[in-house]
Amino acid sequence: MLGFPNRRRFLAASAAGLGAVSAAAQTSAKPESPARLPAPGGKLALLGGPPVRKQKFPSWPNFGASDEKALLDVLHSRLWCRMVAKATSNRFEEAFAKMLGAKHLIAVNSGTMALVASLHVLGVGPGDEVIVPVYTFGATVNCVFMTYALPIFVDVDPETFQIDTRKIEKAITPRTAAIIPVHQGGNAADMDAVLALAKKHKLRVVEDACHGHLGEWRGRKLGTLGDAGCFSLQVSKLLTAGEGGLIATMDDEIGEKCFKFQNNGRGLQRNFTPLWSPTWETRGANIRMTEFQAALLHSQLEGMEERARLRSENADYLTGMLKEIPGILPAKMYPGCTRNSYHIYMARYKKEHFSGVPRDTFLKALRAEGIPMSTGYTALNREPFIQEALESKAYRKVYPREVLASYMERNRCPVNDQLLDEQLWLWSSNLLGTRQDMEQVAEAVRKIQANAAELRKA
Ligand SMILES: Cc1ncc(COP(=O)(O)O)c(C=O)c1O
Repeated sequence: MLGFPNRRRFLAASAAGLGAVSAAAQTSAKPESPARLPAPGGKLALLGGPPVRKQKFPSWPNFGASDEKALLDVLHSRLWCRMVAKATSNRFEEAFAKMLGAKHLIAVNSGTMALVASLHVLGVGPGDEVIVPVYTFGATVNCVFMTYALPIFVDVDPETFQIDTRKIEKAITPRTAAIIPVHQGGNAADMDAVLALAKKHKLRVVEDACHGHLGEWRGRKLGTLGDAGCFSLQVSKLLTAGEGGLIATMDDEIGEKCFKFQNNGRGLQRNFTPLWSPTWETRGANIRMTEFQAALLHSQLEGMEERARLRSENADYLTGMLKEIPGILPAKMYPGCTRNSYHIYMARYKKEHFSGVPRDTFLKALRAEGIPMSTGYTALNREPFIQEALESKAYRKVYPREVLASYMERNRCPVNDQLLDEQLWLWSSNLLGTRQDMEQVAEAVRKIQANAAELRKA
């Protein structure tokens, strides 16, 4: 019989403020005394049996009357662009900056463009190299290509799914200008190590906090530790207006430059009038957020803290159960991660504990049981667009032939290749329900494990 945390004791711990504990609790707490969950037996849904669960998990995104009002207020005001005095965008920036403890926060149209703008403002450009994790979304790398710098991949730490900071130093060359740590899934990259390396080698740090809203490293909000921190507000994210992005910084000059960049290089103050000004102070683009987005985002800030707490409690509860199942390894956190924002709940699947059932068959069986787990990324360092960029006229002009010729070999990431075959993702909205939801996730996994030999033969 597998050991599962006792539900009543868990709830008592939550009520006492212990529910949202992080790394230490997840990785080193002694398992609580075993309690009996419903037996994992029964025929697998994939093989014709009844599923563990028929009801849907919570939907995302959500809205209420205050969101409708916020959008309609902008509509009726006819002030749809932020180039007005007292823009809603300003109010949103101020409110979320306060929640983050960020000195400056600049709203833009996407997380991707937040990254591009940050790199540009920090002076990263052709001839530079930028350290990136391999286990990430394409935008972390595309933003580097957009500045005609060269992304250098660093392999993943499979225990945490974050950049393996022990491998960063080996990737640094005289060309290295910056590091982009990604807080993958809302779990934190090891920022102590990243910041120490950046200091030692005089590198800029742009945090990709696109998953990290309200996550923390040693009590400071993710996105506020580097030179700049970038957030995505795209529809799957923890704060969303369908699309959107943010740049956070504690540095006045970087903040001012980012503000100018998003406004076609115009150095106007925020509450400016008149609408039109021909002062082009610097290079930039129009990546302004619309007032509709800002109004919705401002309204959506309400409840964000509670949602973060609920995700954390449910994730901890789920981890307590899953880590007792041989062959399922929930992502750990580094000790400095004082809050995981759980944009994605990540775990590894070891098929040898499931009679050799391939991961994708396991996921198919899990989805048939009513559990929407999925796989995650592909091998970004081997995507064809990388080679295409290296062969482009611009890259051949800027980078020495030997740098380009050795690129693919230099950027091998064997640990990531294995992780890709093992990764399991459960998206954040699935953590916004009840403890029973979490128990059903664990129950379905156990059911598949109990029937793995039959599943393998089917
Ligand atoms: C890690 C990461 N970085 C950057 C981005 C880009 O954000 P956006 O889609 O808002 O451009 C994403 C989007 O999913 C992401 O997951």
